[in-house]
Amino acid sequence: MKGVILAGGKGTRLLPLTSIVNKHLLPVGQYPMILYGIERLRQAGVTEIMLVIGTQSAGLYTELLGSGSRYGVEITYRIQEEAGGIAEALMLAKGFFKPQERFIVLLGDNLFTDDLLPVMQRYQQQQPGSARILLKEVEDARRYGVPVFHSDNPHKIERIEEKPEHPQSSFCVTGIYLYDTSVFEIIQQINPSARGELEITDVNNRYAAANRLEYDILQGYWGDAGTFESLSEAGLHMVNRQI
Ligand code: G1P
Repeated sequence: MKGVILAGGKGTRLLPLTSIVNKHLLPVGQYPMILYGIERLRQAGVTEIMLVIGTQSAGLYTELLGSGSRYGVEITYRIQEEAGGIAEALMLAKGFFKPQERFIVLLGDNLFTDDLLPVMQRYQQQQPGSARILLKEVEDARRYGVPVFHSDNPHKIERIEEKPEHPQSSFCVTGIYLYDTSVFEIIQQINPSARGELEITDVNNRYAAANRLEYDILQGYWGDAGTFESLSEAGLHMVNRQI
């Protein structure tokens, strides 16, 4: 499977750090944040990676990663000119895939230790036109997309609520998604949210409504390093990890 890492966005919750460098290049443990996602993909055998970045720090990305060969992967870069949401960024990867091809998507600020290979294998068993997401139990689900499980079947997600005030479960939807090219048709059908972005939660809700959304629960550490607190916490968790 090929992979996409989304590493654009403005990182406004991390200002002023992100006024000089893109969020995904900030230090986490011994490395710039972006290397952890690349390492998780390579470890699972995903070596063809499209990296979607913004215009900010584009030169620093190529300086750090080059073609990807020094990290055992092959990187194709795409530029998202304006921060228009995760789904809009993902749309830029459309030409990277053949019709019906399956792939994995990571948000570059998601740091985790689970092995992705079993998840990818389970996704390969799903029907075409379906999606798989990864959940993690968290303390304050209000910061995230939160799954609402079917009352009569907890193995099914009825819908996902984006940053709900009153979360219906203690799980969050992490930024690790498995799709096939049906996702690009869905992105073309959704409308911008109140914050003017194409939301990945709206995309996943289309799969849920069609009963084509499955999930796994991450067992190891997971954090999204989008705030000062979670960035510091991620650094502590990852400080001894070698890439
Ligand atoms: C995004 C998604 C959210 C998800 C989170 C995981 O939120 O919209 O559903 O739970 O990533 O990292 P953001 O961090 O972009 O606000």
